[in-house]
Amino acid sequence: MRQKKIAVLVGSLRKESFNRKMAKNLIALAPASLKLEIVEIGGLPLYNQDFDDDPPAAWIEFREQLTKFEGVLFVTPEYNRSVPGVLKNAIDVGSRPYGKSVWDGKPGAIMTVSPGAVGGFGANHHLRQSLVFLNVPAMQQPEAYIGGAAKLFDQSGNLASDSTRELVQKFINTFAEWVARNTGDGGMTK
Ligand SMILES: Cc1cc2nc3c(=O)[nH]c(=O)nc-3n(C[C@H](O)[C@H](O)[C@H](O)COP(=O)(O)O)c2cc1C
Repeated sequence: MRQKKIAVLVGSLRKESFNRKMAKNLIALAPASLKLEIVEIGGLPLYNQDFDDDPPAAWIEFREQLTKFEGVLFVTPEYNRSVPGVLKNAIDVGSRPYGKSVWDGKPGAIMTVSPGAVGGFGANHHLRQSLVFLNVPAMQQPEAYIGGAAKLFDQSGNLASDSTRELVQKFINTFAEWVARNTGDGGMTK
């Protein structure tokens, strides 16, 4: 099977981010049919419709970068029961100019990671609302609201328990099937 490139967007800029650690574990556990790569979003200027005709270089670069990927994986914390601003900004930047959204048709999946018990459920589902509009077919199962993040990783940032690793492995394996089902081998999606 042809390997598919997947953009990984991490919704936290924190150096010791649990979500970034989880993203790195997902990258390590991904099956051979997927090549996951983190696309950085922290340097994107805030979206402003006034700049649509003369966009900042960072927006152009981000949009061009995203065209090289065939799917998108969101790994994000929950801020105030919703999507962190930095991630929503990246989504908005990628969605414009109107009619040229980089997200259109790319299969996606969401994992939320939080120290809290609810595991970022609110952010996970708010993000799904945007993905419906953006025509990103988002994997339904397994759902991934990962709580108790402070105890998930060892000193090196690897998943500390077998049970969590199995859950994360199942998630990324199922996503590989989801990507295969939602992309052809006949070329890149938009
Ligand atoms: C502005 C802000 C709002 C937060 N709101 C929530 C929340 O609604 N639900 C939650 O589970 N954790 C919330 N938290 C705690 C984060 O889950 C926690 O800081 C987590 O470590 C952030 O993810 P990271 O480790 O990937 O940076 C919030 C943190 C901040 C800074």
